[in-house]
Amino acid sequence: MEVFRVNRNIAHLIVLQRIELAGLFLKKLRKLFGRYIYSNFISKYFININKVGEKYYKLMQNEHRIIQNYLKPGQNILSVGAGVGGLEILILQNNLNTKVSFVEKNYISKKIVYGWDKNNNEAYNSLNLMDKFLFDNNIKKETFQIFDFDEDELPKEKFDVIISLYSLDFHYDFELYRKYFQQVSTQETVIIFDTIRPEYFEKIFKEVKIIQTDKNTVHKSKRIACKYLRS
Ligand SMILES: C[S@@+](CC[C@H](N)C(=O)[O-])C[C@H]1O[C@@H](n2cnc3c(N)ncnc32)[C@H](O)[C@@H]1O
Repeated sequence: MEVFRVNRNIAHLIVLQRIELAGLFLKKLRKLFGRYIYSNFISKYFININKVGEKYYKLMQNEHRIIQNYLKPGQNILSVGAGVGGLEILILQNNLNTKVSFVEKNYISKKIVYGWDKNNNEAYNSLNLMDKFLFDNNIKKETFQIFDFDEDELPKEKFDVIISLYSLDFHYDFELYRKYFQQVSTQETVIIFDTIRPEYFEKIFKEVKIIQTDKNTVHKSKRIACKYLRS
């Protein structure tokens, strides 16, 4: 069966990063006990680890299918806010000679608030656990690099594809990365992300294509694939 190999700490991160994997019971407990106990205890100890690995795999297979047309072997990919990186595992497994640079945050907020985070304080990741998850799922060290958004100098090379699912402009403003994307993209770079304001990006890019509408999220976001970032 196709599943990701996860341990409890990694399954915990996955459930925080993908609230839909929590299920109704956990969501009820979250309401009952509040965000602190949910973020630190319930979402870690009240989960079925193997089920999380299985469901996360299915979810990432679907994400992979949605963006597949933009992927091919030999690409240099930048992934912003990838979570533990399940989608990127599938991309690396399916595309030879591809390289992924991850930019993520390296802490878990004490009381996670989902929604628009004006100051970009919310984070739910551990870069060590992310590295372990990639290793445990047989991803070769030389095919990826992980950068800490708060601590590291970000990579300065050009990327073919930039991906940010339910992170950039879904939880925090696109402006945070705009200048950086200008430095690392070419005329051919495709930038894929989720937003509730696709029309706003017609001023920012010369080409904006809606590739998916998510009716399940509270905000009914759209996934867009954009090209030609204006200066
Ligand atoms: C809702 S999760 C989505 C994770 C993953 N993309 C997915 O689809 O499963 C949002 C992620 O963005 C990360 N994040 C928050 N601020 C960030 C920033 N400034 N740069 C990169 N990642 C960030 C969080 O730590 C978290 O892992």
